[in-house]
Amino acid sequence: MASDLPKTLSQDELKTLVGEAALAEIMGSIERGEIIGVGTGSTANKFVDALAAVAGQVKGAVSSSLATTARLQAIGVPVVQAESVEKLGVYVDGADEIDPHGHMIKGGGAALTREKIVAALADRFICIVDESKCVPVLGAFPLPVEVIPMAAPSLQRRFAAMGGVATLRMKDGAPLVTDNGQHILDVRGLKITDGLAFERDVSQWPGVVTVGVFAQQRAHLCLVASAAANGGLGGVRRDEF
Ligand code: 5RP
Repeated sequence: MASDLPKTLSQDELKTLVGEAALAEIMGSIERGEIIGVGTGSTANKFVDALAAVAGQVKGAVSSSLATTARLQAIGVPVVQAESVEKLGVYVDGADEIDPHGHMIKGGGAALTREKIVAALADRFICIVDESKCVPVLGAFPLPVEVIPMAAPSLQRRFAAMGGVATLRMKDGAPLVTDNGQHILDVRGLKITDGLAFERDVSQWPGVVTVGVFAQQRAHLCLVASAAANGGLGGVRRDEF
């Protein structure tokens, strides 16, 4: 028997919804001819999918990964090198976790270094997530840290001393190599209550390229897709930080 209850949106449908909401949010920037910053991952991909409808109006985009560059080029958006841009109005990207301060864990897709560089160019970071990413305290998601390979063992010992277990991220039986030619440690068992202090400290450890805590480059706005919104029909909430 068919149910009269509204169908609950899947996580993939929520990502589509929030990707479309991000496009609506930044349409003014596109219309003003601004270059936009675009992130990496399955949620950012949904934003790129939405962008395809207005690709002809987009002056250009700075991309945070080789994967996103390929997607932008496939829809006809000109990709601009970060080196040639002094400032961006907006950067749109997903996150692995976001806390009530707008601090995030990022790097599940191994693009954290370029994401942090592009985010730092932007006046405004618009984070796009489904509600599963909203947490009271960062750390349930393993923290990605991009590292210089020769430093990995000493960095694993430093994380162990603070109660974390850092493992080298593997791909096809070998250490994953990032777009920057480096490796990733994923650190489990941390509770990151002070994102700013944690990011500042770990960033200074020799051999750390980028720590996946984005507190300096926090979100200014988080668009959160929720299945329960609108009486179960699904919708997008705005959290400003
Ligand atoms: C990639 C990232 C992504 O933004 C993060 O992993 C979220 O990805 P997804 O939208 O696929 O869940 O930081 O390095």
